[in-house]
Amino acid sequence: MSKGKLNIRCYCEGNMKRSLGTCYYPEHWPQSRWPIDAKKMVETGLTWVRIGEFAWHNLEPREGCFEFDWLDEAIACLGQAGLKVVLGTPTATPPKWVVQKYPDMLAIDAQGQPRRFGSRRHYCFSHLGYRLQCRDIVGRLAKRYGNNPVVAAWQTDNEYGCHDTTLSYSKNAEDGFRNWLRAIFSDGSNAGDIDALNAAWGNVFWSMSYADFDEIELPNLTVTEPNPAHSLAFRRYSSEQVVAFNKEQVEIIRQHSSAPISHNFMGRITDFDHFKVGEDLDIATWDSYPLGFLEDRVGASVDEQKAFARQGHPDFQAFHHDLYRAVGQGRWWVMEQQPGPVNWAPYNPVPLPGMVRFWTWEAFAHGAEAVSFFRWRQVPFAQEQMHAGLLRPDGEAAPALKEAARVAAELADAPDVAHASAELAIIFDYDADAAWSIQPHGATLSYFGLVFDLYCALRKLGVSVDLISSKVQNFSDYKMVCAPGMMHMPSDLKQALASNIGVSLIGPRSAARDAHMTIPQPLPPDIPHLDVTVSAVESLRPDMPIALSGAGAIKGYRELLEGHATPILLSKAGDTVAMEDGNLVYLGSWLDQDGFIEFLEPLCQKAGIKTIKMPEGVRRRVMGAEEFWFNHNARAVETIHGQIKPADFLRLSPSE
Ligand code: GAL
Repeated sequence: MSKGKLNIRCYCEGNMKRSLGTCYYPEHWPQSRWPIDAKKMVETGLTWVRIGEFAWHNLEPREGCFEFDWLDEAIACLGQAGLKVVLGTPTATPPKWVVQKYPDMLAIDAQGQPRRFGSRRHYCFSHLGYRLQCRDIVGRLAKRYGNNPVVAAWQTDNEYGCHDTTLSYSKNAEDGFRNWLRAIFSDGSNAGDIDALNAAWGNVFWSMSYADFDEIELPNLTVTEPNPAHSLAFRRYSSEQVVAFNKEQVEIIRQHSSAPISHNFMGRITDFDHFKVGEDLDIATWDSYPLGFLEDRVGASVDEQKAFARQGHPDFQAFHHDLYRAVGQGRWWVMEQQPGPVNWAPYNPVPLPGMVRFWTWEAFAHGAEAVSFFRWRQVPFAQEQMHAGLLRPDGEAAPALKEAARVAAELADAPDVAHASAELAIIFDYDADAAWSIQPHGATLSYFGLVFDLYCALRKLGVSVDLISSKVQNFSDYKMVCAPGMMHMPSDLKQALASNIGVSLIGPRSAARDAHMTIPQPLPPDIPHLDVTVSAVESLRPDMPIALSGAGAIKGYRELLEGHATPILLSKAGDTVAMEDGNLVYLGSWLDQDGFIEFLEPLCQKAGIKTIKMPEGVRRRVMGAEEFWFNHNARAVETIHGQIKPADFLRLSPSE
């Protein structure tokens, strides 16, 4: 199947082989060690080794002075052992000489401070000089290794957006933003139509109108909040810089190599449009650190953090597997799998024995082609010396090595699989995430949080979910499509949801703003054939939930609904919470997990989707002929298919 087509039914033709890999830094170890490591990797059952993504200084210690011999030898050594290399471009770690050459290439944070040299990702995507420098090193790598049969895949940069690096409030960004706005509000001339911008943004408010695009500054350091339209435009501009930066590298690599190109995305980084970056890639990968994430970004309750401290959140990894499957348009990997304690979360426990195998199989159950462990060997120096590897710092096996070898043996016995889509899809939209973060309306509210809550509730009902881009508007493969919280919903998507033959679940806060953050009229959601109007909205303190007539409550955010559609969910006080018009359903509130489960169960039945109330901490994943039941608890659990031990799972045969 060709890339660039948003076809979601069958991701790859025929069955897919699954494989394992690791992340290796030959430049960290003496050359005499490389063949020993390579042999051990092969003995463990690994196929892939990702290298090179931070090695710019080793490749070009001074401008124009290149040292590729060591990389030639490292690649040859790995290839001789029978391994395949994923070669990373080193642009996430520009060496000091690059920063000396372009002192203004450093990103500037929202407080106006430079993000200085001495770690990584210290660049501003808008700096054209830095982009030129990147094109040079990427071109040299692509030329030199493009035909090398050992280099069987590429990775661009490393974790765009990680460490809060998408937005930069630099002069370069300001210049780029102004030009970008001129093009958006184009009147056919190069000057742009500033009156159109003033009108679209509502700049009549607080005397914010501009006479010229060159007067527009970046939306930071304002006295109180900037105009949300201004902030959203800057978010969109910044997202497009990431897309352009990546595309430049991809185009160069493609001139010299036919190997697939990937990028390793991160967990819960949403401040650029991953789908747009994904359109230029062959494979999307992501870096999965279940224990680090539980502590630092899931938003789990203290009880959940305690219960899953050594296993990770039962839905967080799965959510990203499903998301990146969509970003890669079917082709996706875990490029970095946590193998033991990490160094960067508030607390860094050892995983329960068996979890490394468990996480790896969970990724395969969601369609991963490969899972690669970060990192091969724990490094005794610098920032990540407290980060486990498959090997200890002394080169002996760490506990995860055995688990990796066990998965390799299991894979050798497992049949290859064919991908198939789920019966239910949730639209995930990065622009909506930007809109919510600019205007959350309540302290704890976020788009990611809303979509994730819905996703978790569906998984507690045993439903397998596809996450899809808002550009997918042919829903014929799905029995139900959910579009929660998509604040700006283009009219073609509204139309597609309205004419969906399956169930369309829309809201809360969907279609609530126009493209420039203005409340539209007629009032939202204004979906064809759905007689519902949101007449008012409120956000709620965490300690003021509103009880539903059945189980559960509204939490955080509520809309007041009017219209002639049929009420299908009421609050205890009798207010309408959700309405339906045929297959179109509008939900006007953010529900807690009990509320979501009670609401979604009959809706799934209406759509013809089977639900199974899962035992606590157990999740089911079905893909085509494969069905898995994963026990995320630290204790054994009884299920309808028998007992599942902690850190273990069941793989059901199709007949069960
Ligand atoms: C990832 C990153 C790796 C390493 C790892 C540590 O975010 O891509 O280079 O830093 O985290 O967990």
